[in-house]
Amino acid sequence: KNERILDSHGRTVSYLRLSVTDRCNLRCAYCFSKDIRFIDHQSILRYEELLTIVDLAKELGIRKVRLTGGEPFVRKDFLWLVEHILARHPELDLRITTNATLLAGKVRTLKELGVTHLNVSLDTLDPRKFVDITGRDFFRQVRSALDEVMAEGIKLKVNAVAMRGVNDDELPAFLALARDNPLDMRFIEFMPMGDDDLWSDMRYWPASDILRQAEELAELVPVQSFDGGPDADRGPARVYSIKGGKGRLGLISPLSDHFCGTCNRLRITPDGKLRTCLFSDREYRLLPMLRHPNLGPEAVLRAMRLASTRKPLGYKLLAARAKGHSVAGKRMSAIGG
Ligand code: GTP
Ligand code: 5AD
Ligand code: SF4
Repeated sequence: KNERILDSHGRTVSYLRLSVTDRCNLRCAYCFSKDIRFIDHQSILRYEELLTIVDLAKELGIRKVRLTGGEPFVRKDFLWLVEHILARHPELDLRITTNATLLAGKVRTLKELGVTHLNVSLDTLDPRKFVDITGRDFFRQVRSALDEVMAEGIKLKVNAVAMRGVNDDELPAFLALARDNPLDMRFIEFMPMGDDDLWSDMRYWPASDILRQAEELAELVPVQSFDGGPDADRGPARVYSIKGGKGRLGLISPLSDHFCGTCNRLRITPDGKLRTCLFSDREYRLLPMLRHPNLGPEAVLRAMRLASTRKPLGYKLLAARAKGHSVAGKRMSAIGG
């Protein structure tokens, strides 16, 4: 049985982002700080618990689930989870967001399990700059994983965090990648998340500037981006086709053109907290309920349902930026993006 619950802003939830770990094998400059403390293993949702969450989410009306991290593939036996979610819910739209460093060699298996869409985070096409940004020398692995994904016919989106002075000089290269390959090249506006010193207004490269610059390099045509997701889910990106090209350009602009009014998402952190907005620190602790001897899944479902009707609007982000500091004490990797 599926429910459609409206919140006070007329929104329903149909999309769950499930972060399976806060750990990552990269050290992206804007995400990682030295004093980082990882969640201890006891407090991480076990795979059985994640399966229960997905079962409950289905009852709530969720039709699309995205597995994220940290980096999901660093978690042991991650493919087991993918397999078992899809075995229980073959009709579920299950997607993964990954940095693709550990993806090569696993793409065929993912396809056989029924994964049809992958999103890859990649902020540069320059192998040396990759080391500067991520602290690790994995560009070749990522690049060949992209080719593998496309060769298997899995729908691919590449996400780059747009950073002035870091990757703005590569716009022509990114556009060429999208022109020559069947993928969506998407830029995400750099959001003030985590520690204050990770973000800087100087690095902010607004979507409108990216679009203007891109229009000088290619002929762009706006398209409606239904990509097989649940009906109401157009995703956060504005998408443009590239004349004469195989792929498309996408812009995700949480700062300059936020999409809270149509947000259909719930998020679960690796330690089992339900977040109803990326930018709100209000969290519902599901893990103790799941492990409580006297509380069943029904109690967890009740909490999820209640939370869904109280989704805030994420204007906190805009307010924080206006004051020149970050939202939330949390890094993106502990939420899952
Ligand atoms: P699709 O389902 O393929 O459209 O993917 P997605 O864009 O929902 O997922 P992905 O993991 O590729 O997200 C890309 C980035 O967009 C995230 O890491 C966030 O930085 C940003 N983003 C996604 N959802 C939200 C949201 O609800 N609010 C804000 N502000 N940013 C979001
Ligand atoms: N602003 C925008 N995107 C971010 N990501 C991590 N931190 C930020 C930030 N401050 C991105 C990652 C990845 C996705 C999950 O979130 O690069 O693409
Ligand atoms: Fe890892 Fe993503 Fe954070 Fe980079 S941004 S360190 S890939 S979690």
